[in-house]
Amino acid sequence: MLILNKCSPLRQILRRCHRQVVENSKVVNKNLTAFMGKWPEEEQQDFRLHMRIITDFISELEEQQLHEEIEPYMSRLRYEFDHWDDAIHGFRETERKKWFPHNREVLERVRQVAFEGAIMPYVHILDLAADGVIKPHVDSTRYCGTTISGISLLSDSVMRLVRTDAQRYQQSGTNAKETDSQDADSDAAYRHQPKEASLENKFYADLLLPRRSLYIMSHTARYNFTHEILAKEHSQFQGMPVPKTRRISIICRNEP
Ligand code: OGA
Ligand code: MN
Repeated sequence: MLILNKCSPLRQILRRCHRQVVENSKVVNKNLTAFMGKWPEEEQQDFRLHMRIITDFISELEEQQLHEEIEPYMSRLRYEFDHWDDAIHGFRETERKKWFPHNREVLERVRQVAFEGAIMPYVHILDLAADGVIKPHVDSTRYCGTTISGISLLSDSVMRLVRTDAQRYQQSGTNAKETDSQDADSDAAYRHQPKEASLENKFYADLLLPRRSLYIMSHTARYNFTHEILAKEHSQFQGMPVPKTRRISIICRNEP
């Protein structure tokens, strides 16, 4: 029989695992979010509720199994670097509906944790090259509902959310006259890019997205902020470099 005395190494490991589980079940934003600029108190509270990161959402084995399912298809695509105007540069992407059962289970966990109801049946997979970048944009309200949730594979990265001008990015209403759609030629329908890229007089948050974490971006964080993944030369969190290599994200969204 295995006897665990108070200080046995195994006991310590278990205790550490338990602590991890407890931490994971809470909102773990605290050390992973850096608020920059002048945030109105209420906005910040709202943001904390609607931009969450869960570290170690998947295990190393689950990461490997997801990667193994994606890689054979993905590796046949070519990274796109051609259209500098596009919101994403240096990427390849696909959508997948059918998954191996063990990976389907992971996605079901995402649904339970991040969504109140169903997620869209096609899960979006985005493979960002080491020197790829996701520029500031807001996902179109025509194709995506209140919540966007992503698992990060293979690399840490830094996501920046910048408060947008509510008027300008107002996407609702039937006269969906997208004020900024002329910026990009091809993916403008999916991703709205701002013209003004300066951070001056803006408030924003940098989020450290560790490899194997899940982020959940909803409501105010999804509608009122642009999101972007910093290019490797700017990949820093609170002054510390965050090496960004090739990164695959598995993104679940709900219906508009
Ligand atoms: C997108 C996007 C974020 C990510 O595809 O619109 O913002 O985590 N992706 O890859
Ligand atoms: Mn997006």
